[in-house]
Amino acid sequence: MKLSGLHLLLTYQCTFECDHCFVWGSPWQSGTMTLANIQEILRQAKDLGTVNSIYFEGGEPFLYYAVLLKGVQDAARRGFRVGIVSNAYWATDVTDALAWLSPFAGLIRDLSISSDLYHYSEEISRQAENARAAAERLNIPVGFISVAQPEEVDTGSASGQLPAGESAVMYRGRAAAKLAGRAMPHLWSGFTTCPHEDLREPGRVHVDPLGNLHICQGISLGNMFRTPLREICDGYDPDAHPLTGALLAGGPVELVRRYGVAHAESYADACHLCYEARRALRARFPDILTPEQMYGVLKNTSVV
Ligand SMILES: C[S@@+](CC[C@H](N)C(=O)[O-])C[C@H]1O[C@@H](n2cnc3c(N)ncnc32)[C@H](O)[C@@H]1O
Ligand code: SF4
Repeated sequence: MKLSGLHLLLTYQCTFECDHCFVWGSPWQSGTMTLANIQEILRQAKDLGTVNSIYFEGGEPFLYYAVLLKGVQDAARRGFRVGIVSNAYWATDVTDALAWLSPFAGLIRDLSISSDLYHYSEEISRQAENARAAAERLNIPVGFISVAQPEEVDTGSASGQLPAGESAVMYRGRAAAKLAGRAMPHLWSGFTTCPHEDLREPGRVHVDPLGNLHICQGISLGNMFRTPLREICDGYDPDAHPLTGALLAGGPVELVRRYGVAHAESYADACHLCYEARRALRARFPDILTPEQMYGVLKNTSVV
């Protein structure tokens, strides 16, 4: 496995609880990286030798502003290409957005701002516009991420046309629980491949505040705080892995068949069937189908 990108889920906490959120971000969730965690992750990423890009996301990374800024500074100093994904809740007006963003000028090569009808009541929110204006003034490359409503596209059939600039919702995490009922149903037996993740040779993976290295949200390849990243990468055998092996052999359908999971007749998309099968298999593969946050369990709400 040759990783080129590592996405740090700085926190599972968020200002919002979007219906489509595949990490179940929430104001009531816990799990946040410390500065020491970030330094350890960056050190391991550098040691691996193949990682060139580091993203900070979450949850909402700007909630932990001082830690985000220090993390970005450390990552840039180590020579990584750095990016941030944010919902821009902080961009109250352009002047404020300039104050929030100016310390990142010259350090980040991408600011991806999410704005759509899940995050806000309009597709391009006032906050997103303010953040874009401020980023442009600071010469920070900026772009929008917009996820379409379930009714706009039929992701299960791959025949749907999305409006320009929008991407399709993947029915994992909270999206499976909250949105799958609004999507066009498809026979379960058709989902014989994983359409979204390169399970054999993932270019980028996500690391969460507990150290879990996710090849897809809620499928952990190992824990970076217990096993060095280099060891996790060297030891990854995609076909022998209990989860990715089944998914590579025959997609979510094979996951269901191999482990005898009960299933419904139809699902919104491949992620939906996969996520529901994984939920049923969590007790069997507790170190892989982890952490509880990714399966919608609210952890202690009073501490991070
Ligand atoms: C999990 S959010 C974290 C960063 C930040 N809070 C935000 O919303 O941009 C990262 C990106 O994932 C997208 N996302 C979340 N759930 C998704 C899903 N089920 N399908 C497609 N994209 C999703 C969000 O719209 C956002 O652009
Ligand atoms: S998509 Fe982003 S803004 Fe929405 S709940 Fe998830 S982490 Fe928060």
